[in-house]
Amino acid sequence: MYNDAEELGLFKETLINFEKRGETMEKHLKIAVSGKGGVGKTLVAGVLAEYLASKGFTVLAIDADPTPNLALTLGVPPEEASKIVPVSENTALVESKTSTGMPGVYNLSFSVADIVENFSVKTPYNVHLLVMGTVRSAGSGCMCPANTLIRALLHHLIVKRKEAVVTDMEAGLEHMGRGTAEHVETMLAVTDSSLKSMETAKRLCGLAKQIGIKERFIVENKVASQREGELIEQFAKQNGIPLLGLIPHDDAILRADREGETPLKYVNQSTGVAAIRKLGEKLLTGNSSSSL
Ligand SMILES: Nc1ncnc2c1ncn2[C@@H]1O[C@H](COP(=O)(O)OP(=O)(O)O)[C@@H](O)[C@H]1O
Ligand SMILES: [Mg+2]
Repeated sequence: MYNDAEELGLFKETLINFEKRGETMEKHLKIAVSGKGGVGKTLVAGVLAEYLASKGFTVLAIDADPTPNLALTLGVPPEEASKIVPVSENTALVESKTSTGMPGVYNLSFSVADIVENFSVKTPYNVHLLVMGTVRSAGSGCMCPANTLIRALLHHLIVKRKEAVVTDMEAGLEHMGRGTAEHVETMLAVTDSSLKSMETAKRLCGLAKQIGIKERFIVENKVASQREGELIEQFAKQNGIPLLGLIPHDDAILRADREGETPLKYVNQSTGVAAIRKLGEKLLTGNSSSSL
């Protein structure tokens, strides 16, 4: 899609922008994707992860949705994807980390550094995937061992690891504590043109701000008309949330879904995939503050 000169130009521009801001590239690339169910979070997270990997970053994608399906978007064949055991459901792992041998008493100072190496899956487009499984909200007061492990792991991956990390999350950020959230550089709140999903995106941006996520953007997906684009622009402006960009409705994405294929296979034919890669470019080059 890009020729070498363009590629080099983009890379240089990226470096210059990071230098200007006195940041390292790794620090910048902790991205969380959230939004109401069905708006396209998994699609956006998967394509962004693949885009960053194609630009030479080591990328870890985290599936933190209770119904995980990021593996398929990243090109893992369905029969292999169904065999992936989420960390929270890996009883042996959870026990080995948190058990003290005494019922009801958990070890809370365990190391999680080995989990990526042992439990992440290398996917066909060069992205490493870690499937977290269900994480109960902290509000419920649940301190069960699996929950503790997931929170510690998420913290480690976002705060300590050097890779670019893209997290696909359900529409709630409760399980991301402040200490983790402060290291998330960017949250993309994905919405479609329904008012409910826009309101969810707005709520998520407010929540993300509260817990310390540095940059928050709205992304509108499945845009089918100019009018829809205008409405979200208006909504974003009214609520003071920057709009990172629009992703068109694209039958190629639905077709891939129906066939059980990854939309990444259609990178050259899909206007939707191309638009998401463009958003990745905006995030990389730091040209994201100017909305569209
Ligand atoms: N731009 C788009 N054009 C057409 N269909 C899309 C688009 N984005 C997502 N979809 C479809 O919408 C459905 C939900 O997308 P998904 O990424 O699974 O959402 P979420 O993770 O938010 O629940 C899927 O069937 C997906 O193929
Ligand atoms: Mg999803």
